[in-house]
Amino acid sequence: MNSSGPSRPARSIAIAGGGIIGLSVAWRLAQRGFPVTVYDQSTLGGEASWAGAGMLAPGGEVDEESDLTSAAIASRRMYSSFVAELEQATHSTIDYQECGALELAYSGEELEALERRAAFQATLGIPSKAISAGSIRAFWPRVQTEKLAGARFYPEDGIVNPRQVVTALIAANRSLWVTLVENCPVSCLKLADEGVDLTSGNGVSKYAAVIVAAGAWSGGIQIAGVPQPPASEPVKGHLIGYRQPDQTCTTIIRGTNIYLLQRANGLLLAGASVERVGFEREVNPEITAKLAADAGAVLPHLAETTPTESWTGFRPGSDALHVGPWHSNRLFLAYGHFRNGILLAPWTADVLADTIAASLETR
Ligand code: GLY
Repeated sequence: MNSSGPSRPARSIAIAGGGIIGLSVAWRLAQRGFPVTVYDQSTLGGEASWAGAGMLAPGGEVDEESDLTSAAIASRRMYSSFVAELEQATHSTIDYQECGALELAYSGEELEALERRAAFQATLGIPSKAISAGSIRAFWPRVQTEKLAGARFYPEDGIVNPRQVVTALIAANRSLWVTLVENCPVSCLKLADEGVDLTSGNGVSKYAAVIVAAGAWSGGIQIAGVPQPPASEPVKGHLIGYRQPDQTCTTIIRGTNIYLLQRANGLLLAGASVERVGFEREVNPEITAKLAADAGAVLPHLAETTPTESWTGFRPGSDALHVGPWHSNRLFLAYGHFRNGILLAPWTADVLADTIAASLETR
């Protein structure tokens, strides 16, 4: 069932983009009783949500005061209950680890920058503490401590397996009768008097409201009736993975130009490059070799093996985080999450569902 046809249900909502953001918003709206349709240009959760490492790590990702920073801290606090609710709703298990993050400085200069950043992060509400080389040898015995200048531990950073979150969100949405439409790009939105005409691969359908949540592709949707929303841009990242028989990386570890983490299924990830090359998907062996060298410099046991996999993804870049209405109470934006789409999903979903519910119910 979708809401095409002459009579448009007064509360019907379409979401352009079925990644972790679109699916989380859909779930929260469906829980409030809205009929929701999610369109994805290819496979649900098949882009940045699949490629992402799954770091829930304000400690490693934010170091300035901004809307994104306060949203990241708020969303981190929501994650445990978000995962628990999703697991309960779908009778599934999601790999979510409140493991913390160890950040290493291998020169006096790096240590100075780390201490300066940590002091500022403390004012934002991101705690961390200095860790001695002796403690690292005791608790992270595989970490390279030769030439280590210092380190800090961020107890509130964590990880989640975003592929499992997406799988659970798909199931949770299906159980609430959300319509999920794959391989169907949304090309155009036209704001009309009482709703929005949405043009997709399936033709034109009418909705009471539409949310643009198409990640790096969001800015490519043509909008008529209000100013064109801010541009989006793909920011490519390479990651590599090592299938490991043992858990050898029990927290996030951040070193020079590299982060490492290990999922419960044994996959130890190292990432990530940052490239502005458009929608170019190829894996570049020079970049993966550099990631492997940087990973091996921090965890020498990785230098003795070769990565079993490598992949790329497109972070959803924009000039800022855009979550909220756009010149109308019928069009809403949910993109620009950049390096923190996995982390920001619970917060984005609650904020948008609250805003849209208030907007549609008072119309
Ligand atoms: N959040 C990690 C990354 O974007 O590489």
